[in-house]
Formats: sequence, structure tokens, C-alpha cells
Amino acid sequence: MKNIAVLTSGGDSPGMNACIRAVVRTCKYNGINAFGIMRGYQGMIEGDIKELQSMDVSNIIQRGGTILKTARSKEFRTPEGREKAYQSLIKHNIDGLVLIGGDGTCRGAVEFFKTYNIPAMATPGTIDNDLAGSDYTIGFDTAINTAVEAIDKIRDTADSHDRIFIVEVMGRDAGYIALHSGLACGAENILIPERRDTMQEVIKRIADNTKRKKLMSIIVVAEGDELGGAMHVDKYLKEYFGNIDTRVSILGHIQRGGSPSCADRILASRTGYAAVMGLLQGRSQEMVGVINDQIAYTPFTEVVKLRLPMKDDMMEMIKVLSS
Ligand code: F6P
Repeated sequence: MKNIAVLTSGGDSPGMNACIRAVVRTCKYNGINAFGIMRGYQGMIEGDIKELQSMDVSNIIQRGGTILKTARSKEFRTPEGREKAYQSLIKHNIDGLVLIGGDGTCRGAVEFFKTYNIPAMATPGTIDNDLAGSDYTIGFDTAINTAVEAIDKIRDTADSHDRIFIVEVMGRDAGYIALHSGLACGAENILIPERRDTMQEVIKRIADNTKRKKLMSIIVVAEGDELGGAMHVDKYLKEYFGNIDTRVSILGHIQRGGSPSCADRILASRTGYAAVMGLLQGRSQEMVGVINDQIAYTPFTEVVKLRLPMKDDMMEMIKVLSS
């Protein structure tokens, strides 16, 4: 193996740059040429590939976003797009790939490798923390700390005004950000897509709290919750209670940016290093994760098939602690 290329794909996440740095530096240390593919699979299709030296990745470990930029490529979902991408890799003599991204990235990889065979490893780059094969994903820790900081501030107002705040956090298909930030902020209700939540439960909790003169409340809802996100929950509560004093706060993309936390920098560095070492040892088509603090390898086909299960004890605990 002589030429390894790295890309970032899907939603950006804090720590992607630390991972790119680890990939490039591990390549260079081992006498391998490193390349960066711009804008994920789209840049692969367009041949937007440039060589990276160690110096190109200095002073980025602390930066959010991704210096390689990222995209969600529709064209890569077509056989024609994937053929173009393959031809670009051949043209640049790329004989190894490191893919940094979430489940969409692994899904793209599974399709690609049905036809083409260039050794590839992935690292778990997403704030959603929803990948089987790693206890945590790169960016999740930063995202939940951003959410916690915001919700703590909202709580001040909620408490001062005796108001109910419905705070929407990211997670189209996954409730990990809602679960962890809600738990850390002492939210009275946490609504996530992995559990069938009912408005009756939310209403009951508000009514019970009101009886015991606890008028403020924080409801953390994942954007992908089946109740329809914060705006829907708010509308429902207003219709049900009539004169209830509620406010909605949608945290949105502030959760995706910012300087990565220490934990994310370390996870990114460990998995980026292990991805390159894995390629050099002949591994391919696996995502590198960390399970019980040990590097773990999971085939792409498993990553896209399995969901990271929600821990039942966490769900039970939240019920108890927010009562
Ligand atoms: O996958 C990460 C994520 O932030 C999800 O939580 C969210 O639903 C989605 O990306 C939003 O994507 P976009 O920035 O493309 O709108």
C-alpha cells in the first residue's frame, strides 16, 4: 500500500479534523503518501483529490468542522456515480481509503464495495452516536456538552418565569443526544424516537408537577421523535391546557460546531490511527470503533444493519430521577 486517501462524509462533527490529522500523520510515519478527498463521495466522483503533508494537518486538532469539507452525495447512490468515483481513485493511484462519517457513509461504502475492491476502513464520525460498533462516536461528546450548556441557560429562564420549555435537540433517527443531554440537565421529560412516547405521559407529568407547585419544566425532545418535534409538542400542550405558558427552543446546528472536547479529540485520534494501521495489516471494509475502551472492528455490513441499542437501565433511571 502506497497511497491512502481520507474523506469526511455526511454531517460534519467536532473531532473530524483530529481524525484527519491522525490518518495523515500515521500514513506519513509509515512512509505512505496521504491524500485528502474534498467534499466526501462527491469529491471522489469529481476527482477533487489532493496530496496532504504532515504540515497540512497541523493546528487543526482543536478545530470543529472538517478541512476536507463534507457533503451528502446523491450521485454516489447511482452506479454511474460510483463508477466515476472508482475511476478517480484509479487515476490517483489510491490503494487505501479511510472514510470518516456516520451510517450514510457506511451505507455508501457497502454499495461501492459490492462492485469495487479498494481496501477501506471507516471511523465513526457523527454527533448522533447511533453506530453499532462503537460505544461513542466522534463529535457526540462535544454535541451533548453544547446542548447541556444551552439547556442550563434555558433552565434559568424557565425557573425564573415558572415556564415550560420544550427544547429540541438534533437526532433525526436517534435519541442519544436527547437522552444524554436531558439526563445531564435534569429534564422532566425526554422524548426520543427509540421509545414510543405519548402526550398523555407528558401531560400527566406536567399536571402532577403543577399539583405539587412545581411549575417550571424542561422537555427535551429529539428532532426525530415520533411526536413530531418541539413545535408539535408545544402546539399539543397549548391546545390541551389552554392558558399554559410554554416556549420552544430549537438548538439546531450549534450542536454540530465548535472546538471538539478532549474526549472527542482522543476518540478521533485513536480511531484514525487504528484505521490506517488496520489497512496496513490487511484489514478492509470495517469500521474502527472503541468498545469498553478497546479498539474494535465491525464490518460495514454489520454497522448498517445493527442499531446501537438504548440502554434500558438509562431509560428507567431517567423516569426515577425526573420524578
Ligand atoms: O447526522 C447528524 C445530523 O446532525 C442529525 O442529527 C440531523 O438530523 C442531520 O444531521 C441534519 O442534517 P443537515 O445538516 O444536512 O440538515
